[in-house]
Formats: sequence, structure tokens, C-alpha cells
Amino acid sequence: MKIKHLTLVVAISFAVVSCGGGEKSEPATTNETETTVVEEETVAEEAPETSANDNMDNKGVGPISSIELGEIDNALADSGKELYKTNCTACHKFGKRYIGPALKGVTTRRSPEWIMNMILNPDGMVVEDPIAMALLAEYNAPMSNQQLSEEDARAILEFFRTKE
Ligand code: HEC
Repeated sequence: MKIKHLTLVVAISFAVVSCGGGEKSEPATTNETETTVVEEETVAEEAPETSANDNMDNKGVGPISSIELGEIDNALADSGKELYKTNCTACHKFGKRYIGPALKGVTTRRSPEWIMNMILNPDGMVVEDPIAMALLAEYNAPMSNQQLSEEDARAILEFFRTKE
């Protein structure tokens, strides 16, 4: 009984000390390990789910507020492919990072509106949209505005949908 009681006292004093940020006491090693493991579990369970949902809910900043997607329109996707080759391949590849991010799977990590706003308003996106801001920080190069129309951006989005 006495030993158990002592362990509890050590555990509590360690908890109090660690909340205060002090490191003076000498906590039993087992207590320290337990505390660390619990914290890691909490983070690992919550983080990915939240950020994935945030991404797909985020429509970005720019002219496109809402679009409806139907069945894939192959003719539209073909014209999107041509526009992509002319305007985007200087900086993007699908399967690997280049000047900009690899675009493979982009339609599964970004909403359609976000993708079109990134094409139509990259300058605004990198200063106002949290995801685009983070990408700019990571890639350290600005995406240039290719001066495309909304129809062009929509066609490129359709092409991206065929690459899902
Ligand atoms: C001058 C280089 C350049 C050109 C041209 C360019 N991009 Fe980008 N793109 C980037 C960079 C760099 C980023 C990362 C954000 C940033 O740093 O601005 C990016 C980000 C993106 C993203 C976000 C990717 C992700 O993982 O979320 C999409 C989508 C995108 N570009 C599509 C296009 C399309 C479509 C075109 C052609 C119309 C295009 N880009 C033309 C450089 C470019």
C-alpha cells in the first residue's frame, strides 16, 4: 500500500510540474513514458480527418463560388488537355513535383471550385487562401496567372477528373 501511495504522489507532482513547464523534480521514468504516449495518440487520431475535410470544403478565393459536376464530358476534357499542355506543363507534371506540386490526385484533395480559383486567381489565392499560402511557402515560387477564361479553367478541371 505504501509503495502504491508513493507512486501516486510522484505521478501527481510530475503532472503539476510538467504543467508549469518546470523540469526540477525527478519523475519516475514510467510516468514520463505514459504521459507522452497518451498525448501522441490524441494527435494522431484527430489530425488527418480534420484537415482532409477542411480541404474539400474549402472553395478558395476567386470568381468561382459553386459548380456542379456531372458525368465526365470527354470532349471538354480533350480541350482541357490541350490547354493544360500549353499553359501548365512549364511548371507541372502529374507524377512528380516540379516547379509546382505534382497534380496527380489533385481532384481528390481539393474541391473543384478551389482548383478553378487557383487557375483563375493564383495571386489572390496565395495571399488569402490558407492551403495556397502553405503551398507557396513550400514551393517558394509563385504560380503565374495564365489569363484563362472560366470556360478554359473548367475544361482543365474536366481533364484533371479523367486522371483521378
Ligand atoms: C510559373 C509556374 C506555374 C505555372 C505556369 C502554373 N503553375 Fe500551378 N502551381 C505552381 C506553383 C509554384 C504552385 C504552388 C503554389 C504557389 O507556390 O504559388 C502551383 C499550384 C497549383 C495547384 C495546386 C496544387 C495542389 O497540390 O493543391 C494547381 C491545381 C495548379 N497549380 C494548377 C495549374 C494549372 C491548371 C496551370 C495551367 C493553367 C498551372 N497550375 C500553371 C506553378 C505554376
